[in-house]
Amino acid sequence: MFGKIIGFEQVDNKIHIGFEEQNVIVEIISASIINFFSPLKREQRLSKAVEDLKVQKCSFSVDSKEDKIIIATDKLNVNIFDDFKVDIYDDSWNILCEDYRGDRKPFVRRGVDGGWAVAAEEGHELKDGDNKLRVQVLKKMEEDMYFYGFGEKTGHLNKKGYHYKMWNTDDPKPHVESFEALYKSIPFFIGLKEKQAFGIFFDNTFESHFDIGKENSDYYYFGAVDGNLDYYFIYGPSMKEVVNRYTDLTGRTPLPQLWTLGYQQCRWAYVPEQRLMEIAKEFRNRDIPCDALYLDIDYMDGYRVFTWDKNKFPNPKEMLSELKQNGFKVVTIIDPGVKKDKGYEIYDKGIKNGYFAADKDNIPYVNKVWPGDALYPDFPNEKVRNWWAENQKIMMDYGVSGIWNDMNEPASFNGPLPDDVVFNNDGIITDHREMHNVFGHYMSKATYEGIKKYTNKRPFVITRACYAGTQKYSTVWTGDNQSLWEHLRMSLPMLMNLGLSGITFCGTDVGGFGFDCTAELLSRWVQVGCFTPLFRNHSSIMTRDQEPWAFDKQTEDINRKYIKLRYKLIPYLYDTLWKQKSSGLPLIRPLMLHYQEDENTYEINDEFLCGENILVAPVIEQGKTARMVYLPKGSNWVDYWTKEVFQGGKYIVKEAPLDLCPVYIKQGTIIPNYPVQNYIGEKKIEELTLDIYPAADDTEIKYVHYQDDGESFEYRKGVYNLYEFLIKGSDDLKGIAIRINKTYRAYRDSYHSFKFKINNIKPAEILADGKAIEFKIVEGAIEFLVESETEIYIK
Ligand code: GLC
Repeated sequence: MFGKIIGFEQVDNKIHIGFEEQNVIVEIISASIINFFSPLKREQRLSKAVEDLKVQKCSFSVDSKEDKIIIATDKLNVNIFDDFKVDIYDDSWNILCEDYRGDRKPFVRRGVDGGWAVAAEEGHELKDGDNKLRVQVLKKMEEDMYFYGFGEKTGHLNKKGYHYKMWNTDDPKPHVESFEALYKSIPFFIGLKEKQAFGIFFDNTFESHFDIGKENSDYYYFGAVDGNLDYYFIYGPSMKEVVNRYTDLTGRTPLPQLWTLGYQQCRWAYVPEQRLMEIAKEFRNRDIPCDALYLDIDYMDGYRVFTWDKNKFPNPKEMLSELKQNGFKVVTIIDPGVKKDKGYEIYDKGIKNGYFAADKDNIPYVNKVWPGDALYPDFPNEKVRNWWAENQKIMMDYGVSGIWNDMNEPASFNGPLPDDVVFNNDGIITDHREMHNVFGHYMSKATYEGIKKYTNKRPFVITRACYAGTQKYSTVWTGDNQSLWEHLRMSLPMLMNLGLSGITFCGTDVGGFGFDCTAELLSRWVQVGCFTPLFRNHSSIMTRDQEPWAFDKQTEDINRKYIKLRYKLIPYLYDTLWKQKSSGLPLIRPLMLHYQEDENTYEINDEFLCGENILVAPVIEQGKTARMVYLPKGSNWVDYWTKEVFQGGKYIVKEAPLDLCPVYIKQGTIIPNYPVQNYIGEKKIEELTLDIYPAADDTEIKYVHYQDDGESFEYRKGVYNLYEFLIKGSDDLKGIAIRINKTYRAYRDSYHSFKFKINNIKPAEILADGKAIEFKIVEGAIEFLVESETEIYIK
């Protein structure tokens, strides 16, 4: 395809290489990130994901030698051969990623003549390989490789042996391992080879394919049906560095409003007003915290977006304000499909200004979604995005607190959008094939910008479809799962891989969307939801009720217990999101992200880390009341419920009756807690509780806690506080010294006191600034109160 190397020229950080058939550019983004580009479709590299490419100046060399060009940075050595074959080594010349020499050799599909048709008669959907890729890169599969990422995909944590397609797809059938595509397309993965990690981000929005040694175990490949060859090689060697660098490229999740970390209740559909109010009342009467309620499509007038059905909701403004007084924020759904309906303002305006995608003859393209005949806004066009952003004002003026963007793959009930539906991508006329995977991305961006402009608060947008980089604008949920144990199980690797793919703020429909939930399934799902970034219970129309109280007293008690625990953990979750702004590390993490040296963690599908310090090993099988838990090597782990300490690097068996989710805290950490509230902001938090798990040696623990107003953008101007807690123990835990420092103060509200809860120690005396203070023993932990900036010594 490329032919022989003719020559090269270096211009700044770019090496232009001429091949007989095609030119390429190799760009040194930093010592650890290299972009490989060939303009197979367009001259320029136009990314939808990388909006602010930061090239880090670094020294590198380029030489040509015999049959190759050698590029060397401080971290990587890259050899480039004829036919644009690329081999990448670390700085000691250990191979990391080698192009496969040779053609694809798919396995044989054995059968009989006409076998496809015969099987199809019974309804079997057989899959053929993909042979239509115009852009394709084959890499040699090394021994002992593991693969992660790929965004929202079914299957296991390790993606070796899978084939995936990136083509945003709304398929309501139960999602199973054979699904190649779901709602989101994030063409990014991480390879792990002999404890060294690297990432590949194939920035191509056309339908793309990733085959991880499935069609032939000698190689893995990625490719697309059209577009440029454009991929970034992102070196680690730690997985954490890969995620950090990938999210530095594509952007990170901005700090959300604090309430969005609270519990959220959704259902298709809480109508009319009286039903919504009833739900709100139940939460408060039953002492179950809740921050957000959702309105699904039936709140609209005939599914016309940005309208209300005034029969069901006679006075939305009044209703939303009443709910707000009681701490409830309401999030309304807004789908992309605009009803074809003369006299309906949004439609009229869209038509008048040419804001809808059109067919090849420039006639606005019509398909069907909830409102019947509907048109698709040309979101890739900035003018249309600005219009959509303006429309958010309609909802904000009513008092809506967040926007839920659904059906934006885009979904279409009347067959798929034809390939040649035309979009205007900020001046470049293109088609559905190129814009499909970024339609939801651009819609979320428009929604985010509109909400930001009209509220000046951190926007809460939740989207179903997305592309790489959507994390800058929106939270995501994993679409229409079902109330199946299998889907609870699957949600863990799916969310962990979403996190590794930059999507920090994600969640599944807790309890399952389709099908009817059971008491036991909801109990176990809430135990998982409690530790996942977005904690939203949602269920479909005509399914059985699924609110926390919908089953029996035991289930309600379990729901209450874990929803309350969630509210205690709010400052820990918020701190983790704040730290993510610089680290890029997600909230839900696979164990190997922190324990890359421990190979036992590489394929753990049924445990996860919530932040760095909480390990969750939920029960995800019906009827099970005990499970095996692997505690990774390199830390000691404290059972959250019993405070028993375990050494890492082994499997233990944990009894887990229905009301108990096995949770372990890394020894040598602090988990900050808030008091339980009915909703975020109900109480003024003047005291922070520090739940401390002292190290068993003299390691110093440092924990940095972040505090701001939890809603505005003032933090970007420096209006926040930082507290540093330093704890140093001795080998036998006989003496512990604690210091609280307020290291940065610019936000007016701060804590008046700190409540210490120190686990697993038996002190004789506690001194605060040299004076003995009183302490109590509560549930085996010692508790005492101190004011800010105190030095404490525990003997
Ligand atoms: C889609 C969404 C689901 C929503 C429903 C009705 O199926 O995925 O969450 O409830 O549409 O709007």
